[in-house]
Amino acid sequence: MIYGSMADSNAGAGKMEKIVALCKRRGFIFQSSEIYGGLNGAWDYGPLGVELKRNLKDYWWRSMTQLRDDIVGFDGSILMNRAVWQASGHEATFSDPMVACKQCRKLFRADQVWPAIEQSDWYDALAEMFALGQLDTLNLKKWAETKGRRDAPNLALVRNLPVTLSWLSEKVQADGGLSKLSVKEFIQYLATEQFAQTGLITPCPHCGGELSEPRAFNLMFKTYIGATQDESSITYLRPETAQAMFVQFKNVLDTTQKKLPFGIAQIGKAFRNEINPRNFTFRSREFEQMEVEFFVKPGTGPEWLEKWREERLSWYESIGIPRAKIHVLTVPDKDRAFYSQGTYDLEYEFPFGVQELEGIAHRGNYDLKQHAEHSKKPLEYFDEETKQKYLPEVVEPSAGVDRTVLALLCEAFDEETIKDDESGKEEVRTVLRFSPRMAPIKAAVFPLLKNKPELVAKAREIYGALQPLMKVAYADTAAIGRRYRRFDEIGTPFGITVDFETLEGAKEACTSATGAPIAAGEKDTVTLRHRDSMKQERIAIGDLFSWLLMKVA
Ligand code: GAP
Repeated sequence: MIYGSMADSNAGAGKMEKIVALCKRRGFIFQSSEIYGGLNGAWDYGPLGVELKRNLKDYWWRSMTQLRDDIVGFDGSILMNRAVWQASGHEATFSDPMVACKQCRKLFRADQVWPAIEQSDWYDALAEMFALGQLDTLNLKKWAETKGRRDAPNLALVRNLPVTLSWLSEKVQADGGLSKLSVKEFIQYLATEQFAQTGLITPCPHCGGELSEPRAFNLMFKTYIGATQDESSITYLRPETAQAMFVQFKNVLDTTQKKLPFGIAQIGKAFRNEINPRNFTFRSREFEQMEVEFFVKPGTGPEWLEKWREERLSWYESIGIPRAKIHVLTVPDKDRAFYSQGTYDLEYEFPFGVQELEGIAHRGNYDLKQHAEHSKKPLEYFDEETKQKYLPEVVEPSAGVDRTVLALLCEAFDEETIKDDESGKEEVRTVLRFSPRMAPIKAAVFPLLKNKPELVAKAREIYGALQPLMKVAYADTAAIGRRYRRFDEIGTPFGITVDFETLEGAKEACTSATGAPIAAGEKDTVTLRHRDSMKQERIAIGDLFSWLLMKVA
């Protein structure tokens, strides 16, 4: 019996912590190199995570290269000639502005400093005092000498208490009193040395210290090819999968004789030396992308950009991410990549905020033009109709595999209070409500009791027959209710239980899950249990396979 969803208690950071814990407990995602203390920004997918990720990639691949006539598949190398990265502009400009703390030496992306400060313990404590109106000298002194010393030892208030306090009171008076200041302004005063000449200081999120001016930091991982490590052997791990598709445009065109508009699709690893990997797998240093480079006639880029936006929105719906949870951001001119003539970001409502899932960019003919110029090889398309040669424009829907897996996990995660049918006690049921298409395990087969050979033999027979068709599991330990819960927690949509009615015949006439009638006494039917509703019904074994195939297709 369901009493209600615990959706409210699942908000924000609490929900994220539960998801991370579940991912580890049940084998979805582990920290890379965990037994050696981990590696920041790298993750390993466990037995269930890899199935989920594979289902996602297979479905994307099928949607792009099998269900459409105008896209062909491709698999480029991760290592490419350095000239590729020079031509694409990555070597010169693929960088984030970064600031360093002058005291603790930690590095931060310049645009991420305030979000990081707002998540720090010391900011929380000061913001709470601010909200409660406890910012008198006595309280600030007490905080600086205790928690402040521990959490933000380099904040001006902590390092230079009397001077900062007297400067602060002057500044607050000059500004017309505390009520005129925001928390941010107030905290900037607490971080500013009295003798600072440069205006207010943004403090280090980690220790409260002073930050350097921003400087560019290239995000590509540099490596060397061959035995000598010098300038001539440098290349990079690819930071996006896209470039190989541009570089091989002509080969793909010549071997497929495709006509515009047509696309090249690729799924593969990309590497970025992110300054602050964070939010579980959301911002990683090693991740996978699913990208299409869609080549179109000059001038038609804007209309294809719109088409791809709609196409991608309905694709997310088809994997169980509702349209209402995806926000379309028209990226403003100042924030667009330099090559882009228009970009939409599809953003998902993650528990840690609305954040990018996929970028859809109109790249114009920038990439083909750059590679044609640098390689001195013609990359034009010959238009049979107009008898003209030209460089096509490109529209690129570029999705992150890991971010989509994370969105699927966040969307699927639910907790509800239920009454256990056997004990009558209330308990919290954790359930991952994956769409059957994405679920790592599609169905679990259970003999009702493991010490009844006839039940076990029949369950094993069904399990064996399903194995070639889909990923299924077999489980015979623990009470049946416990087994159902274990599979709810990993998102298995269907439970198939072989019980005494399977062997002896249905106790009473009923309607099968297929809608067909089942007569009283009919043998070879099983209990089919639905993960989301926990509803149970019977189905004939003979109908089970086609019914399941239809549900998971
Ligand atoms: N070829 C275009 C391109 O790479 P992008 O917006 O930088 O564009 C595309 O990346 C997608 O790749 C993002 O929308 C995101 O899903 C994923 N992605 C980018 N950086 C990532 C990171 N550090 N960790 C995980 N996924 C990332």
